[in-house]
Amino acid sequence: MSLISLFPTQIYRTKLRAPLARKWIPALIREVKLFRELDTTGEKWSRENYPNGYTSYSSITDLAFRSSGFAELKRWIDGEVKKYAASLEMDLGSGFLEMSSFWVNVMGEGCNHSFHLHPLSSVSGTFYLQVPKGSGSLKLEDPRLPAFMASPPRKPNAKTANRSFFSLVPGPGELVLFESWLKHEVTPSRSRTDRISVSFNYDWQKTP
Ligand code: NI
Repeated sequence: MSLISLFPTQIYRTKLRAPLARKWIPALIREVKLFRELDTTGEKWSRENYPNGYTSYSSITDLAFRSSGFAELKRWIDGEVKKYAASLEMDLGSGFLEMSSFWVNVMGEGCNHSFHLHPLSSVSGTFYLQVPKGSGSLKLEDPRLPAFMASPPRKPNAKTANRSFFSLVPGPGELVLFESWLKHEVTPSRSRTDRISVSFNYDWQKTP
């Protein structure tokens, strides 16, 4: 007999080199705190839509244009997105993947972000700046789930590839990329220390 595995969902994980992480991360965390202090619109939006946390998703989505530190981080992420697209064998024609939004997430105790996807984008992801113990995981859902109908569930100890959900607990300095159609959530934080990350979307820019 033989089994053919088809239609894989590929998640890209990598870490910023340690010397760069030591240099960049403390400075970026300071900048995130400053953005939060100044961003009254985002703070108000977060109170209503992101309880116990702050996100600039609705207010500041162009981090790379606001600070040289985030511009530098974006350049590194650009390179990793290229590698991810190559490993997926994406055919972009004469087009390219371009970062279309880049925002901050600060999750306090009890803050969570329920299942969602990023429509209209091609690649989405997060770079982690501060991840205290117990501050939640990135939970990914099998995109075929709505089509499974009478398909029985998988065993609790099933191989990773056969599971319907998969949880990642990234560390500081880690980058996670996935295709934007993949449903994901951040489970509630149980830490008193903030979980700090920056997220982004890349869109397919088609040049004539
Ligand atoms: Ni998301």
